[in-house]
Amino acid sequence: MKKIPLTLKPSHKPSEIIIADHFLFSDGAAKELRKLAPHFALCCDEAVAKLYGNRWMEHLKKLGLNLSLFTFPPGEQEKCRERKAELEDRLQSQKFGRDTGLIAMGGGVATDLIGFLASTYCRGAPLVFVPTTLLGMVDAAIGGKTGVNTRFGKNLIGTFYPAEKIFIDPSVLSSLPESEWTNGAAEVIKYALIRSYELFETLKKWKPEDPLYLGKIIHESVMIKAQIVEGDYEEKLGLRRIVNFGHTIAHALELLEDYRLSHGQAVAMGMLVEGYISMKMGNLAEPSWAKMEKLIRTFPFILKLSANVTKANMNTAFALDKKATGGAARFVILEKIGACHPFSGEYCCEIPKAVLDGALDWMIENFGGKA
Ligand SMILES: NC(=O)c1ccc[n+]([C@@H]2O[C@H](COP(=O)([O-])OP(=O)(O)OC[C@H]3O[C@@H](n4cnc5c(N)ncnc54)[C@H](O)[C@@H]3O)[C@@H](O)[C@H]2O)c1
Repeated sequence: MKKIPLTLKPSHKPSEIIIADHFLFSDGAAKELRKLAPHFALCCDEAVAKLYGNRWMEHLKKLGLNLSLFTFPPGEQEKCRERKAELEDRLQSQKFGRDTGLIAMGGGVATDLIGFLASTYCRGAPLVFVPTTLLGMVDAAIGGKTGVNTRFGKNLIGTFYPAEKIFIDPSVLSSLPESEWTNGAAEVIKYALIRSYELFETLKKWKPEDPLYLGKIIHESVMIKAQIVEGDYEEKLGLRRIVNFGHTIAHALELLEDYRLSHGQAVAMGMLVEGYISMKMGNLAEPSWAKMEKLIRTFPFILKLSANVTKANMNTAFALDKKATGGAARFVILEKIGACHPFSGEYCCEIPKAVLDGALDWMIENFGGKA
């Protein structure tokens, strides 16, 4: 078992991340929960409830814990204010007060939604995350960002509210479908590219079904995300921008493809294009670019775009990126595999139009779209 303390703000109690195979169905989780609250609301989507939630609740009850299960339908559309309000009403109708511990079990939708709910419930309830997707484990559950989508965009309403405990049990990933695996894998590859050559080398040997490498990969990814968010918790300094590598392109692609692309697919193409930009800017050596391209192409990402993606549309979409200044896109640039250019603490920069045009031409040539 690995325990990682995560201090996001000196004034905050540190979060504790516990990574251990088969942790949920041991007595370890119950021991940890008992320290936090007298009773709990276990919240998860209906699919996760069937797979793990119901069984885990029975297991914890047998160990003497007092908890009730609250479920909601699966899917990104449930990450909304209406679902949050509906769950709040259900909790209040059962007289759950501020001493109730809220447990979010599931993917990033559950941790973002229930994390946001916990941050406002009775002005802040004890919160535990139990991520059950790879993306949830290495990304969404780490770093304290919570929130919901609105019809104007993703994650537009939310808070910074870290969970007190995060239980990562890699054994639950055995039921994850391939499309969900690749969503998490794209973020793991991103961590290697922005922060760790060692992780990059491990990924070259990775077979998802191998539990030894999986534990190592999750642990290294969690450490990287934790170090980055500890250095820039509220995204005020610039360092946290590096987790956006590949995402300027990815977010534009998701928008133009009307979210029919999976996030992993979009990030994989985004990293390739932004790696290409880093190389053309003279920051990333050509052999390193070739190595990163080779690694990404060994994963089962579907690297394909529709005719909705054009250079003109991409340029319009870039203006919506949160790093953009005065409508101009800014990109995180790799210096080498495992490090980004700091750009005096901004960690991103505007790039010449010719470089961007060339990179978009390369993207369309390789993945489709319309010139
Ligand atoms: N807060 C953050 O810092 C942060 C970071 C990255 C992503 N996110 C958010 O995370 C969300 C995406 O999360 P996600 O990719 O985990 O999607 P998700 O939460 O929708 O889960 C994907 C699907 O997998 C199913 N599932 C979950 N665990 C399973 C398991 N072990 N076996 C089989 N099926 C399982 C779920 O029922 C769901 O249908 C987005 O809303 C994104 O904005 C947040």
